[in-house]
Amino acid sequence: MTEFDPRPALDELRQLETLEALEQWRVKHLGDKSALRAALGGLGQLPPEQRREAGQRLNAARQQLQEAHDARKAELTEKTVAQQLERERIDVTLPGRPIARGCSHPTIAVIQEISDLFRRIGFQIIEGPEVEWERYNFTKLGIPPEHPARDLTDTFWITDKMLLRTHTSPNQIRAMERVGKPPIRVLVPGRCYRNEATDASHESIFFQIEGLMVDDRTTMSDMMGVLTYMARGLFGQQARTRFRCDYFPFVEPGAEMSVSCGQCSGGGCRMCKYTGWLEILGCGMVHPDVLRGVNIDPARYSGWAFGLGVERIAILKYGVDDIRLFQQNDMRFLRQLG
Ligand code: DAH
Repeated sequence: MTEFDPRPALDELRQLETLEALEQWRVKHLGDKSALRAALGGLGQLPPEQRREAGQRLNAARQQLQEAHDARKAELTEKTVAQQLERERIDVTLPGRPIARGCSHPTIAVIQEISDLFRRIGFQIIEGPEVEWERYNFTKLGIPPEHPARDLTDTFWITDKMLLRTHTSPNQIRAMERVGKPPIRVLVPGRCYRNEATDASHESIFFQIEGLMVDDRTTMSDMMGVLTYMARGLFGQQARTRFRCDYFPFVEPGAEMSVSCGQCSGGGCRMCKYTGWLEILGCGMVHPDVLRGVNIDPARYSGWAFGLGVERIAILKYGVDDIRLFQQNDMRFLRQLG
């Protein structure tokens, strides 16, 4: 009854490979229902003279098992942790997952660049409505009904008085009406609409930037200086500008501005149609009738204005060959320019 041989248990212990198996082993060999426990419980039935010696033997065996268990437990714990570390190892040298970064649309990039140039010289950047009154888009700009200039652009009409603006020029009127009294210096970027067939150089939705300055005695040469400053900011300090007469109903005199072709430096190439010049905007001195229409006295104040096509600038700056790309939002196109 009180005989106990620890060796089989110790043999078993050596085979164990997991902490779970070890715990089962402990319950089996050291727990309440173990053979060792039973042997210890049987001590009371031994004659007193044998009890002491048997007790010592069993306790030694128990201690031996307990120590062997503790040593194995330490071993297995260490091994388990090592395995876990190996399994969960992080390779800190692996490159991270790329984060897709956005970029500015080329149209917006050009608007921002031009806005920065004008902000620096005291212009305010404002916006106006895309759905516009016919009065602002045409009449107040010196284009009454039946005026031939209305046929120059095909208009998307919403009602007989309301339309999608065909240019940003109505904001000249809006700015002067709102500010009331010069000085006025505003820059107005915005989307415009024309009902026309599209091709590589025509798109029915496009952006313009309108500029307007009205002051005591601002002159055509102020205008030429500011526009040349803009052209050099956009195309580089070597750029030259040229102004030639043109007609727009709301300016007098009216002009168009060209910049020297950056591609051929004026020598002549396909981009500038072998002229050495690229036409980029319309401009002129605000017509006295337009000033009178917004209650600004043309005898006291003068003004000048300009309007440019944003995509045209982007086309020239980035060498794009089709204006329709700007509306299509093909990522391959946008990524190249961003
Ligand atoms: N609004 C004109 C257009 O769409 C461009 C223009 C010409 C604007 C002369 C102006 C200007 O302010 O003075 O073609």
